[in-house]
Amino acid sequence: MTERSDYGNYVKTGATVGEVPAAKALKYFEVQEREEGFVFTRELDKADIVYGLGEQVRGINKRGWKYCSYNLDDPSITENRESLYAAHNFLLVSNPKLRFGVFFDTGDKVSFDIGYTDADRLSVNVRGGCSVYIVDGTSAREIVREFRELIGQSYIPPRWAFGYGQSRWGYKTKEDIESVEKRYSEEKMPLDMIYMDIDYMQDYKDFTVNEERFPDFKDFVASMNEKGVRLVPIIDAGVKAEENYSVYEEGIRYGYFCRSADGEPFVAGVWPGDSVFPDVLNEKAAEWFGSNYKVLLDLGIEGFWNDMNEPALFYSKESLHNAVETVSRVKGKNLALEDFQAVSGAFGSLANSEDDYKKFYHNVDGRLVSHDKVHNLFGYRMTRAAAEYFKEYDPQKRYLLFSRSSYIGMHRYGGIWTGDNASRWEHLLLNLKMMPSLNMCGFLYCGADLGGFGQDTTEDLMLRWMAFGIFTPLMRNHSSLHTRNQELYLFKAKDVFRRFLGIRYSLIPYIYSEFVKAALNNDMLFRPLAFDYPDDGRAETTEDQIMFGESLMLAPVYEQNAKGRYVYLPERMKMIRMQSYDNYREKILEKGSYYIEVPLNEIVFFLKENCVLPLAEPAVKVADVDFDRLRFVQFIHREKKYAVCDDNGGTITEKDFKYHTVFPEEKA
Ligand code: GLC
Repeated sequence: MTERSDYGNYVKTGATVGEVPAAKALKYFEVQEREEGFVFTRELDKADIVYGLGEQVRGINKRGWKYCSYNLDDPSITENRESLYAAHNFLLVSNPKLRFGVFFDTGDKVSFDIGYTDADRLSVNVRGGCSVYIVDGTSAREIVREFRELIGQSYIPPRWAFGYGQSRWGYKTKEDIESVEKRYSEEKMPLDMIYMDIDYMQDYKDFTVNEERFPDFKDFVASMNEKGVRLVPIIDAGVKAEENYSVYEEGIRYGYFCRSADGEPFVAGVWPGDSVFPDVLNEKAAEWFGSNYKVLLDLGIEGFWNDMNEPALFYSKESLHNAVETVSRVKGKNLALEDFQAVSGAFGSLANSEDDYKKFYHNVDGRLVSHDKVHNLFGYRMTRAAAEYFKEYDPQKRYLLFSRSSYIGMHRYGGIWTGDNASRWEHLLLNLKMMPSLNMCGFLYCGADLGGFGQDTTEDLMLRWMAFGIFTPLMRNHSSLHTRNQELYLFKAKDVFRRFLGIRYSLIPYIYSEFVKAALNNDMLFRPLAFDYPDDGRAETTEDQIMFGESLMLAPVYEQNAKGRYVYLPERMKMIRMQSYDNYREKILEKGSYYIEVPLNEIVFFLKENCVLPLAEPAVKVADVDFDRLRFVQFIHREKKYAVCDDNGGTITEKDFKYHTVFPEEKA
């Protein structure tokens, strides 16, 4: 059961679908009104686990830290951070006697103190007003299902989006991209998409293509498609402020960009220098911004990634001016500590400043709203604008779309990648921990930059990360300019990578079917162990293993030079030790704790009892994965039906599922 309570004034977010009756009184929390907003507090039971918050730092259990929903572009992702790129204000408080979910719905800033100031207290500080939804249910999984029903069905991408994609900030020309395709194909390594970062654009202008570096773009897209590779370009939130650039001129003419207090378009620096920002909270402006994707759709593009949509600001015109002034004031001076700090601070604090977020306005249904009050909605609305246009462009077709910044509600329109991680072992573990939390908040199509975006990767990190990444719906290897190249064919272990990718493609019928079932049933694809084994105290505290779909438990290695790891089995399971589609070993292990050796060239995972795992024959393109010819790895004692989703695109219904009956193997 779900109940809603409203506090103060706030801009409706569009997170939920359908109506929820207002509660007589808010359950589980004490509420205090403050000048800035509202504070919701509650004593935490010693046994409480606090799940949720989607894309955030730290554990699956969020207890013991303070977090802040205020979307932020900052690539140094460390455990002392409070905000990342997304605002997912859903918590699930759980102990054996009481479980409930709570969602604080507002695009304004929300701070969560989950046993940080006082270990036994949960306190949520909402700036402005909000709606609070309380979701009751008996099990954690049921509460999530109920919450997900409230927020509406998750986005389902096209099937090819479950293939492997190569990306890098630094592919500058058509030839660069062609050579990536050629190398993967020569090496017979699976590949379904190549991502195009900002260098495909003319001077970083959205919806343009640099004709010198990418001549005959339409033919290029077609020729890559013929080779079975889709090009997926990036779109940035900031639009270059430049005369004669049609997107800028049109937006100015219609008044579709965010404005400063003086009514002039708000200008801030991003990749192209001075930029303006589409007012995606204004219906007409959003519709217009979405319609610009047509330029690339007409050229044969079928997928996009939306970036810098917190929105990221390198500087505002005004703050840059002030910083330059500060520096010129000390020109020629002998800088003592205070002066030096003023100078370094003047530039150091330019990016993404909260002051700048207060300096511009949206036109929401005719009302001017200061950006900072709806800050967390920008990425969501930008992505929704694109998705709504795609529906108009071709109602039958599903497009690939994911975003860096997000808010709950966006999960109906696209997926997310988790932003600028780095080639660090801890970010592999963070990737694992985030997956169930993201699923709780509706985000099913997600993944991290495999191998790490920032900093130099190593071969063993790449191998271990891929050994986990083959299970994530969005499977993309992406890295930053000036870092070591990490295309898989470059490594000495390329044969292992080829086999790992092969395993991914064999798993696609399972990954896709489980994904679609999770989306249609408002269920989680990745779950904390405790969601499947609620009475198991050990499962409750296991933070480095997760359940994946109906049949599997994952326990990847995430430490350098480790030869294996300890794995906890909450029940009897079959361990699958896989080198390739037809080279794997099985072993039944009883409930308990084991040290499992995992060589770098193997993927080890666990099949639950009474479950099966379909495997398709090897393929190098998703389109060639044969969903009919399946082999089943099994751990069953009587016959078992498994539903495979094999649809033709468009809307998926029950008719798209084929039921396979698997019989227990004869005992030798
Ligand atoms: C941002 C994105 C990253 C991209 C870069 C250049 O940092 O998060 O993925 O490569 O911008 O566009």
